[in-house]
Amino acid sequence: MASDRAPEAPSPLSDEDLDPIEIGRRKLAAARAAAELVQDGMAVGLGTGSTVAYLLAALGERAGELKRARCVATSPATAHIARDLGLKVHGLDDVRELDSAIDGADQVDPQGWLVKGGGGAHTREKIVASCARRFVVIVSAEKVLARLRAPVPVEVLRFGVQCTLAAIGDTRLRDVRASPDHNLIADYLGPFEDPRALAARLSGTPGVVEHGLFAPEMVSEIVVAGADGVRRRVGGKSAV
Ligand code: 5RP
Repeated sequence: MASDRAPEAPSPLSDEDLDPIEIGRRKLAAARAAAELVQDGMAVGLGTGSTVAYLLAALGERAGELKRARCVATSPATAHIARDLGLKVHGLDDVRELDSAIDGADQVDPQGWLVKGGGGAHTREKIVASCARRFVVIVSAEKVLARLRAPVPVEVLRFGVQCTLAAIGDTRLRDVRASPDHNLIADYLGPFEDPRALAARLSGTPGVVEHGLFAPEMVSEIVVAGADGVRRRVGGKSAV
């Protein structure tokens, strides 16, 4: 999966001593558990990132069985991989209502707030998640934190970008800046106590297209894979 992460942005994992092989194993376990939720005939939103790459591989193994499944991708990279694996990819407006969307996250807090957008696709991911009856998040356990912290990705319009960033404050544009919709991606690097207050402030700033804070009420379920196996956390979105 192509990476357009901010190379200079501090990683939420930077103070952890984590073995990349173990992280990969956890991502694979979470992705495979979520892949079992996908049945033939479903309309499914597919997120973006390395955890989703494992999901795509798991679904690709079942492409013969999922002939009538309709997938909606949140990025060109995901669309490309899904098609290569034999999955049918449609535009969101052609499908409109999704049975499920499955996506990764950069951080999860105890209340079920997420930070997303490490790959800069959070605007599409939020739209796709909001069209899904069930939004399932797949993460490796080290992403579950006692509280969220910077960086929080923010997609901004090119027009007046310096004014937008000055209005937000404590923000840095990424070196590889473009979102799938050719807007710019910045990271909010400042401190924050209350994710809902920061989300409201970012949403209320002219020039901000979307931020990477996902509220608990968007999330149906969080599949967390750690050293002790896979756990499922119920999210704040009621079943539809
Ligand atoms: C992309 C995202 C990703 O889901 C998030 O960055 C997690 O990525 P990964 O699965 O590679 O750790 O929000 O915009």
